[in-house]
Amino acid sequence: MRAVRCREPGDLDVLEWTEIDDPEPGPGEVLVEVAASAVNRADLIQRMGFYPPPHGVTDTLGLECSGRIAVLGDGVSGWQVGDEVCALLAGGGQAELAVVPVGQLMPIPAGVDVVTAAALPEAGCTVWSNLVQVAGLQSGESLLVHGGASGIGTMAIQVAAALGATVIVTCGSQDKLEHCRELGASYAVNYRDEDFVAATRDATNGRGADVILDIMGAAYLDRNVQALATSGRLVIIGMQGGVRGELDIATLLGKRGAVHATSLRPRPLPEKAAICRAVVDGLWPLVSSGDVKPVIAATFPMSHVAAAQQLVEDSGHIGKVILTAAP
Ligand SMILES: NC(=O)c1ccc[n+]([C@@H]2O[C@H](COP(=O)([O-])OP(=O)(O)OC[C@H]3O[C@@H](n4cnc5c(N)ncnc54)[C@H](OP(=O)(O)O)[C@@H]3O)[C@@H](O)[C@H]2O)c1
Repeated sequence: MRAVRCREPGDLDVLEWTEIDDPEPGPGEVLVEVAASAVNRADLIQRMGFYPPPHGVTDTLGLECSGRIAVLGDGVSGWQVGDEVCALLAGGGQAELAVVPVGQLMPIPAGVDVVTAAALPEAGCTVWSNLVQVAGLQSGESLLVHGGASGIGTMAIQVAAALGATVIVTCGSQDKLEHCRELGASYAVNYRDEDFVAATRDATNGRGADVILDIMGAAYLDRNVQALATSGRLVIIGMQGGVRGELDIATLLGKRGAVHATSLRPRPLPEKAAICRAVVDGLWPLVSSGDVKPVIAATFPMSHVAAAQQLVEDSGHIGKVILTAAP
């Protein structure tokens, strides 16, 4: 089969769409004939050599895929060869064939085509696990999402709005702000020329945000704590603004606030399976009803993976960038 690999750590020119041996599913795994995958910012970091796959996972890129089941491994029940599926992966989705632990296999939500379904697993699992399971976001609460136009952000806006929360986002351009409003954000802040702490207070009658979903890490830590409401929950899922910051404990304590930090890829299989089940039960009905729509910025064949990663590297996209396996 052909797969997206990096010849060595480096720039976009190390990416190749190349022949490698077909993978084989072990016990508890299935082999999926891949229709599509999607680019995640983590792919760029892996390509540069800073985010290796967990032990035992292929170094073929791709944290998600969609397609049809081709082979069932030993002990797999509840699925049939030919079923259309999408899957959360620790790697290997950007290939013609992908091995999937059965707990990370999900049906495609009704009304979504098999290629578009590749946009859902990573953003769906990240957003649902952090907003619902970690932060316990409730109807009537407020959510501040940084990077509202990202793959994660476009999903978070729609999920939070569907749950009845008021959504505030940050983005870096007028075009992105407008898109986020169309997706359900009530307030959109251009982080390049506005202070998101003041904007969040204005949007919440001075209370601050009940939940913050953060991708910037150190650069936003202090201002995120300032922007938090009493009993607020800050959930950090990215470090685009650095890894070491200073936490204002006095302010956090005064607000009885919580700071969480989570990552999805290295979790044990049972934890990922539990997240996938929660996503199928809770999020897929919102997708099927049209309350949450996959947002696709562009679609490239996997052979053009460098162009797809370039688009994400330049932040020229809104939502997800899809890669199709068909030539
Ligand atoms: N922990 C986990 O389990 C987990 C799982 C999935 C993803 N993530 C993280 O979530 C983040 C988003 O992932 P993705 O694949 O959706 O990436 P993406 O689509 O490439 O989005 C990155 C976004 O960051 C925005 N951005 C850059 N500087 C910003 C700033 N100063 N303030 C606010 N936004 C800013 C960019 O938009 P502008 O043009 O508006 O700047 C862009 O939309 C990444 O950091 C990724 O590592 C974490």
